[in-house]
Amino acid sequence: MKTRIIGTGSCLPEAVVTNDDLAKIMDTSDEWISSRTGIKKRHLAKAETTASMSVEAAKRALENAGVTAEELDLIILGTVSADYVTPACACEVQAQIGAKNAVAFDVNAACSGFMFALNIANAYIQAGLYRTALILGAETLSKIVDWSDRSTCVLFGDGAGAAVVRGDEKYGMLAFDQGSDGAKGDVLACLGRTNNNPLIKSDREIAYVHMDGQEVYKFAVTTVPASLQKTIEASGLTPEDIDYYALHQANIRIIQSVSKRLHISEEKFPISLDHCGNISAASVPILLDEMNRNGLLKPGTKIAMSGFGGGLTWASAILQW
Ligand code: UT7
Repeated sequence: MKTRIIGTGSCLPEAVVTNDDLAKIMDTSDEWISSRTGIKKRHLAKAETTASMSVEAAKRALENAGVTAEELDLIILGTVSADYVTPACACEVQAQIGAKNAVAFDVNAACSGFMFALNIANAYIQAGLYRTALILGAETLSKIVDWSDRSTCVLFGDGAGAAVVRGDEKYGMLAFDQGSDGAKGDVLACLGRTNNNPLIKSDREIAYVHMDGQEVYKFAVTTVPASLQKTIEASGLTPEDIDYYALHQANIRIIQSVSKRLHISEEKFPISLDHCGNISAASVPILLDEMNRNGLLKPGTKIAMSGFGGGLTWASAILQW
């Protein structure tokens, strides 16, 4: 039994902010952002929330899969920017789509969140515990980035992506790799709330995302190709056999570096970061949905997926569509 993606959906906020728009409010330029990252614009939430975008993406994925909400056994949502500390965003999705037979929870693996959700769903399906799952990556990063720090705020966007997965005899996941390195957690971090109990008085201000961009870059360009190589080998394929590489959309230079290290043409690496920016856990499922709706994915198409980011965490999977 293999875990197969049978439908995808995504949702982006209505408001679009270009690099030129940002250059009007901070010391940056389209030239700097485009040349260093490949990002041209991003969607930023106004009325939208992490849950509202997740619900929309979930409905579209269910419709695309031809599955009803009642058929879902499991909902797993990767996010670092849920609307509430509790309930989990996955529980909000469960309530709003009416998935009354599912168990729902969030996972925090930053930009690897959707891939971790996929692997957890796969483990449940392999164990025979559940048959049909909804997995999501959803973020409103614009509320946790520091808009006075031009080295991070220009990189990120908001949005949600979802996929319905189900056990299948023929096609689906061939291999998976995931890992974390908690010792390097400080290179991409966002502190939580302060402790205001009667014993302690904190004068710490609200904290925002802090990133050592060059360290994250070095981590990505070494770990991602190694993880992909390992996963491709485990699936009995070669890098040339893979039709598409759907990577976390952080930076075009990271994607180009992975393509060079694997000796695979950049044409096999679809891109959404130019119009979405980096949406952490939502990047991979939004890209997958775009590929799906653009007709790139046919039954049997071989795709390699990889997410990487805060934690530090990483995860790759090889799937036959
Ligand atoms: O999901 C994972 C998330 N993170 C990543 O993927 C990040 C990976 N890292 C990167 O993509 C790159 O490190 C960045 C794009 C973040 C930065 O590129 P860089 O080539 O490492 O630039 P830098 O941080 O070394 O900064 C170079 C210069 C600095 O000026 P000086 O000191 O050379 O005068 C910065 O102050 O660029 C300046 N700078 C900017 N200039 C215009 C930093 N941000 C900006 C900006 N606009 N937005």
